[in-house]
Amino acid sequence: MTNHTTTAPSFQASLDAITALLPEKLRHPRVGIVCGSGLSGIAAKIRETVLVPYDKIPGFSTSTVPGHKSSLAFGLLGSGEGVPVVAMLGRFHFYEGHSLSSVVYPIRVMAKLGVKNMIITNAAGSLNPDIPVGTIVVVQDHLAIPNLAGVNPLLGPQTSPDLPRFLPLSDAYSPELRRLVFLAANRLGLDDSALAEGVYAWVTGPTYETPAEGRFLFKVGADVVGMSTVPEVLAAREEGMNVMVLSLVTNFVVIPRSYRSIKEEVKAELKGERVDLPDAHTVSHEEVLAIGKEKAGVMMNLVENVVAAFLCG
Ligand code: 6GU
Repeated sequence: MTNHTTTAPSFQASLDAITALLPEKLRHPRVGIVCGSGLSGIAAKIRETVLVPYDKIPGFSTSTVPGHKSSLAFGLLGSGEGVPVVAMLGRFHFYEGHSLSSVVYPIRVMAKLGVKNMIITNAAGSLNPDIPVGTIVVVQDHLAIPNLAGVNPLLGPQTSPDLPRFLPLSDAYSPELRRLVFLAANRLGLDDSALAEGVYAWVTGPTYETPAEGRFLFKVGADVVGMSTVPEVLAAREEGMNVMVLSLVTNFVVIPRSYRSIKEEVKAELKGERVDLPDAHTVSHEEVLAIGKEKAGVMMNLVENVVAAFLCG
């Protein structure tokens, strides 16, 4: 288990490298945004953008996921003067082999830049038949399966004497920020079914769930499942930030109600009986991609609208 970085990164070096590239008015972002798969388009809505590539920031890992921009985007978001924000275009995943402290390093850097509110997005699979593909789930709580088994980004020496040793998580997902999303949805005229509330289960991946695992996660209270986000939430909460998470449901986790019984099939076959196989459940990848693409725009409008609310707040 590689739970600790081997060389202690220097936050000051990271901060110096970043601020050297920024004009004064972008150096103190108020909102941090983590863009999940296919959700980096928010960058197009940011004005006066300065991109800082991860490979220019000491302490940052390099992403192995192709197609990611692998940059921090600093700029202004929302109408009028705009709110200074920083967006992570591409994140680090535990399944890529990054240590959990590397996964959350950018979150801690954003905290040190002065970010107080963190909006985290991801693509997730639905476990709940009432939450169809295309729904945006406003996360209200999580089930961190790896944490329960001893894999937690906060394991190790206390991060800082100023931060809590035993972080409470009863209010990890800010009710105030969640309110702002539903108000933003109303302003945008979104249909009631566009947004749901639910519990996110974090698994490490890179394997998808077996049917039994999917059924287990749903039975113990998860609505959606994914391979990211929770480590970032833990670090953000430890750093004292308010956190909001939006999950875009891109597919269903297939949970058959019953298994094909190979035993019964073979018995029937040996008796010369005809065996009617149940239809295999298949998800159309094209459909999932199309829905993902369409809803990513909605997600970005929501994020922009929530951020605009910070102008008045
Ligand atoms: Cl089905 N499972 C997991 N673990 N992550 C996902 C997913 C499923 N769909 C999108 N992300």
